[in-house]
Amino acid sequence: MGSIHQIANLVLRHLPAETAHGFALRGLSAGLGPRERPDDLPILDQSCFGLRFANPVGVSAGFDKNAVAIAGMTKLGGGFIEVGGVTPLPQAGNPRPRLFRLTPDKAAINRMGFNNDGAEIVRERVSDHLAREPASLPLGINMAANAASPDPAQDFIDLITCFGPVADYLTIDVSCPNTENGQVFLEPTALENLLARLNAARDTSGSRPALVAKLAPDLEDTHLTELIEIITAAGVDAINLCNTTTKRPTSLKSRHAQERGGLSGTPLFEMSNAMLRKVYRNTGGRVPLIGVGGITSGADAYTKICAGANLVQLYTGLVFEGPSLIQRIKHDLAELLKRDGYANITEAVGCEHRA
Ligand SMILES: Cc1cc2nc3c(=O)[nH]c(=O)nc-3n(C[C@H](O)[C@H](O)[C@H](O)COP(=O)(O)O)c2cc1C
Repeated sequence: MGSIHQIANLVLRHLPAETAHGFALRGLSAGLGPRERPDDLPILDQSCFGLRFANPVGVSAGFDKNAVAIAGMTKLGGGFIEVGGVTPLPQAGNPRPRLFRLTPDKAAINRMGFNNDGAEIVRERVSDHLAREPASLPLGINMAANAASPDPAQDFIDLITCFGPVADYLTIDVSCPNTENGQVFLEPTALENLLARLNAARDTSGSRPALVAKLAPDLEDTHLTELIEIITAAGVDAINLCNTTTKRPTSLKSRHAQERGGLSGTPLFEMSNAMLRKVYRNTGGRVPLIGVGGITSGADAYTKICAGANLVQLYTGLVFEGPSLIQRIKHDLAELLKRDGYANITEAVGCEHRA
């Protein structure tokens, strides 16, 4: 017998992708998600860039862009929350349709274009949530520049000032393939200048949330190495690998495979793992990494941890597997760690590089 959540998932899968996502979010914010279960898996508990994570699994940026369902997302059982991408001013994003499910490929293509309610409203919602639940999970805000901004670096500074006091960490998304300003900071000098300005803004803001840089998987090796050097020299606290890809593997079967935008889900799994391995080797494991891309099981999450991730996030897997996936991943991950003789997850991070 299917649970109410499995049945709801089946129904949602027959709606256009963005409409279904809207319903799912409304359900979560109305408390219709799975019931919260206590985190009783100390093997998954770790401290990372100054924050404590009861487990390493988070829902990735783009799922709750407007912070309308933080409480519901908390109940999915993850160890942290990331809302956004948020831009300083509200933004409509690209025309619909702009989100496509590639069901035979367990994938999605999106060209949302940072549709969001803008920093002021999102910050109000985050503040309201924190007033109700002060001991909330570690909370990240994913930041992006407005598409039409004449000074995208200033947008990031404004966002740090706005969200610094309410966020545990701030993600600088410099890897979005879907807007005018989405990738301007993949240019090394531009990134270096941006990070210097952001560090200065954070130092004078009076709050000190951790900074996370999120990169795209489509970078050439030398380009990636150069960006990683800049990011580590600037003292960025962690690196998120990775955003969606503009590549289209020939294995894709869906009729939507050639839609414009960023591809996520299963076809991104190996690509993002390869990037994770490279960056772990480049940084010698000194910078915490958040592994994202194509996770649909505890075994997938374990692969990323062994490749070098301290934390993992997922989005597209939730669309296909449903909201109970996070609980399953945690349970299976704990079993895999025990099977391999680890007392705590931190011992397994990057273990394949030591084998
Ligand atoms: C509809 C959609 C919207 C997204 N929006 C954002 C965003 O605003 N900011 C961001 O950094 N990543 C965004 N992402 C990328 C995800 O956070 C994640 O990096 C990517 O989907 C790979 O993970 P997955 O394969 O588990 O989905 C979005 C992804 C999707 C599918």
